[in-house]
This record gives sequence, structure tokens and C-alpha cells, in this order.
Amino acid sequence: MGYRVVVAGATGNVGREMLNILAERQFPVDEIAALASRKSLGTEVSFGDTTLKTQDLDTFDFEGWDMALFAVGSTATKTYAPKAAAAGCVVIDNSSLYRYEPDIPLIVPECNPDAIMNYRNRNIIANPNCSTAQMVVALKPLHDRARIKRVVVSTYQSVSGAGKEGIDELWNQTKGMYVPGQEVEPSKFQAQIAFNVIPHIDVFMEDGTTKEEWKMVAETKKIVDTSIKVTATCVRVPVFVGHAESINIEFEDFLDEDEARDILRESPGIMVVDKREDGGYVTPIECVGEFATYISRIRQDSTIENGLNIWCVSDNLRKGAALNAVQIAELLGNRVLKKG
Ligand SMILES: NC(=O)c1ccc[n+]([C@@H]2O[C@H](COP(=O)([O-])OP(=O)(O)OC[C@H]3O[C@@H](n4cnc5c(N)ncnc54)[C@H](OP(=O)(O)O)[C@@H]3O)[C@@H](O)[C@H]2O)c1
Repeated sequence: MGYRVVVAGATGNVGREMLNILAERQFPVDEIAALASRKSLGTEVSFGDTTLKTQDLDTFDFEGWDMALFAVGSTATKTYAPKAAAAGCVVIDNSSLYRYEPDIPLIVPECNPDAIMNYRNRNIIANPNCSTAQMVVALKPLHDRARIKRVVVSTYQSVSGAGKEGIDELWNQTKGMYVPGQEVEPSKFQAQIAFNVIPHIDVFMEDGTTKEEWKMVAETKKIVDTSIKVTATCVRVPVFVGHAESINIEFEDFLDEDEARDILRESPGIMVVDKREDGGYVTPIECVGEFATYISRIRQDSTIENGLNIWCVSDNLRKGAALNAVQIAELLGNRVLKKG
């Protein structure tokens, strides 16, 4: 016997990946429902070799469904996730709505799987922000060995992190640059994204950081260790899929770059590609459609006592969202619901 699974936001970037990954990983599904807004009613989406017709989230009855993977944004989540949870269906949510609530577990299965039991508090589990998810997969095993004091991270985030509209804007704006009269003004992004980079993701906070940067700080503390200090600069770049991060890490204890490389090689969810030659590292294009978080450019930072630099690349729609959500579903299945 398998699970009755709901994917809400099935017509979106993350929802489609959730369906792909549930099928790829052969998640034990007895029945699956694909939901989106009313305007997408009947839209066909793929689940492995089968095609599902999208149903309306607004009128869906969650009674009798085991789990619901949500990727509909915070506003719709606020309306529908409590309904699903109250009907006994465990919600695994991709939006930022519940991530910082103390009684809601925020989980990256490679880092804090034991937090899963707290799902019982509200029948809701939160999935982290895409830029946090790939970073903490790399930080956790290094922290376990040498205690991280401080992290300085700069991100290079793809436009798919801003949903379907983000992808469309980069595509249309790039085409429009070559066709007089078809220029596309910025609307999803705050400045031109084609052939440009924008140091601004999500809204500004009072202290001058952006919400995206704040999320990386708060989520790393919640998932790995509250004592870790993080300072982030989040940048949108004209890449369709795949986030990259330059991460500088300061440890309490000395950690040699070779030992760090060995630790990362042995750690779950990580692939190390680190040769000091042309192409001996991973770029976002190579990580698309992959499960792993790739680590390259591992090197000592000789300007501080115990420091390392790493380059971290992952598919933001996968580890940054859909894969992590499916891994949480697997964890919930294996540890709690025990079907399949
Ligand atoms: N993209 C990433 O890298 C990433 C990473 C981590 C977390 N997330 C989060 O995941 C969520 C989805 O992101 P996305 O990139 O997949 O966005 P997207 O491509 O814009 O897709 C949004 C999905 O939500 C549905 N939706 C929106 N409002 C709805 C409503 N009121 N009722 C029912 N369905 C509604 C849309 O349905 P229609 O097609 O019918 O409008 C669509 O299926 C967001 O919360 C985002 O912050 C994204």
C-alpha cells in the first residue's frame, strides 16, 4: 500500500519538478492529484509516463489524502495549507510562510532529519529557501568536524528562482534586445536582467539587507546551528536554472583543504568536482536536472586563521525546492507513516 499524494502548484516550475522527482524516485504513490488555480483547470501535466489533469485547489477536499506538497507561494499557502492540515493531510510547504515559526520544522534531510517528528505540532513541515538548502548541505558536515563560526556568502541566483514569470522575462528581454520595437521593460525583476546582474532579491529590510539575504541567515541558524553567523549578498544573474554560491567559511578549529574535500566527498547529497585545471569545477548549466549539490574550488583562505573558500552549485528547482520536498516526504514515510 502506498500514499495518496497531492501536488499543489502543479503547473509551476517547482510543482512540475515535484511530479518528475516523485516519479523518478519511484515514491510509493497509490493515487496522485495535481492542483493549481482555477484558470489552469484541466491543464495536463506529466507524472512519469502518465498525464494528469489539473484540479482546482480552491475546491479540493484534502480528507483522506496522506500528504500535500505545496508550491503555490505564500498567499495561497496561507489560505489552503491550514485546510489541508486540518483534514489530516501533512503539508510540506515550499513557500516562506511557515519557515520561521518555532513550532514548524524546517528540514533539509541531510542536516536535521530528526526534526521531522515536530510535524505533529501543526501537521505542516517547511522547506527552506533555495539558496539556503544547497549551502547547508555543504556546511553541515564541515561544521560537525571543525565548528563553523562565520560564513560570508555571495550568491549567483538563476531567474527560475522567481517562478515562471522570471524565466519568461529573461527569455523575452534577451530576444527583444535584437528586434527593434520589441524591447521588454523590467517587470518581474527590478532592473534589466538580460546581459546584466541585479544585487536585489526580495524586499529590502530596515538594516539595508534584503529578505533573501535575511532568509539565508535565519534558516541556516534554524537548520544547522543557532551559533553560526552568516552574512549574505544575494544576486540575480541571467541564468535560467541553477544557483551558484561563493562561500567563505571561518571555523573554530583548523580544517585542512584536503580533509575538507574528503569530508565533503563522503557526505550525503554532495558531489565534489575539484580539479585545478580548465573545467575542473561545476557551473550552473551542468547541474540542471541533477539531484546533487556540487562543490568545487575548495581552498584554504590564508587571510584568516581557520578559513576555507568553496564554490557551491545546485539545481534550484531540485535541491532548492522540489527534491528537498520529496526527500522530506520520503523521510515522513520512512519514519512516521510507514506505508509503501
Ligand atoms: N523556484 C524556486 O527556485 C523556488 C525555490 C524554493 C521555493 N520556491 C517557492 O515555491 C513556490 C512556487 O514557486 P514556483 O517557482 O514554482 O512558481 P511558479 O512557477 O510561478 O508557479 C506557481 C504555481 O502556484 C500556483 N498558484 C499560484 N497561486 C495560486 C492560487 N491562488 N491557487 C492555486 N494555485 C495557485 C500556480 O498555478 P497557475 O498556473 O494556475 O497560476 C502555479 O502552479 C513559491 O512559494 C516559491 O517561493 C521556489
